[in-house]
Amino acid sequence: MNELNVVVDAAKAAFERAITPADLENAKALFLGKSGRITELMKGLAALAVDEKKARGAAINLAKQAIEGALNSRRQALADIELQTQLQAEALDVTLPGRQRGPGGLHPVSLTLERIEAIFGSMGFSVAQGPEIETDWFNFTALNTPEDHPARSMHDTFYVEGGSATAPNLLRTHTSPMQIRHAVQHVKKHRATAAAGQSGDGLFSGSMPEIRVIAPGRTYRVDSDATHSPMFHQCEGLWIGENVSFKDLKYVFTDFCRTFFESDDLVLRFRPSFFPFTEPSAEIDIQFQSGPLSGRWLEVAGSGQVHPNVVSNMGLDPEKFIGFAFGMGPDRLTMLRYGVNDLRLFFDGDIRFLTQFQ
Ligand code: PHE
Repeated sequence: MNELNVVVDAAKAAFERAITPADLENAKALFLGKSGRITELMKGLAALAVDEKKARGAAINLAKQAIEGALNSRRQALADIELQTQLQAEALDVTLPGRQRGPGGLHPVSLTLERIEAIFGSMGFSVAQGPEIETDWFNFTALNTPEDHPARSMHDTFYVEGGSATAPNLLRTHTSPMQIRHAVQHVKKHRATAAAGQSGDGLFSGSMPEIRVIAPGRTYRVDSDATHSPMFHQCEGLWIGENVSFKDLKYVFTDFCRTFFESDDLVLRFRPSFFPFTEPSAEIDIQFQSGPLSGRWLEVAGSGQVHPNVVSNMGLDPEKFIGFAFGMGPDRLTMLRYGVNDLRLFFDGDIRFLTQFQ
């Protein structure tokens, strides 16, 4: 019996030493395997007499059961250890502060565009959107811009491969093509009504509601420095009716600038200029009466009375319809409003810059 106890103790000790399931299986083989200690003892029974065999067999069985019991509890213990290790490795530190995404917000130029839309909206202007890849016709020809005008050169305009006279072939250099696109739609819509009082295909000289629209959006030119970016924003304005004059342009734009900059004493200057699509034309400069920019003239828009050829290209009779257009730079307006000195900051996407506007 003593001998069997020694085997059982040896098995228990071997199992305790096993620290992985594979170790444990190896240790098991030493005692319960085909040529393990217990199996060998069983084989030895054959040589014993019948009555001895019985007692000895029962004793070996008890030893075997004790070894199996020890094996199972070690198996369980190793499984528990493994689970604990895994749980520890995968432990979540719930006290770690979360990574925050922050509340987000609008880009400063978007804030400006919203502001422009709200102010012109209050003056009865609707908002139109149009394509950034334009045709030669809408970007230049319809706007009375001749073939040899410098704005058409490769130095100023991004051309797109495969264009034709009617297919899109360039990135719009200004939002002015929207004057034509919007007016053509407006005329088409209203000439079909009974109130128009005119049918047929010729230039429209019937009655229609006034065109009063702004068209903000992205524009492109081959230009890049602290105050010019190859992609920038413009906002077009167009007011066409039967009796809309330069005086209305001055009134509307002055009102807009004073509201936009929240400055009632802001002074505007309409400086004679040239655009093929307006006649007369003017650059609009503003002057603050106080603050860091006080006293300086700052250019904010091009403008003018819509050229009769352009009115015709809108499908309207220039003898009857007249109006004004302007094109301003929302990027510039944003720089002036917030005191930003480098246009490129708007397009770098640096979060430290952008969060300052929230
Ligand atoms: N499209 C002109 C520009 O980009 C601005 C402009 C718009 C001038 C409308 C007159 C009328 O410079």
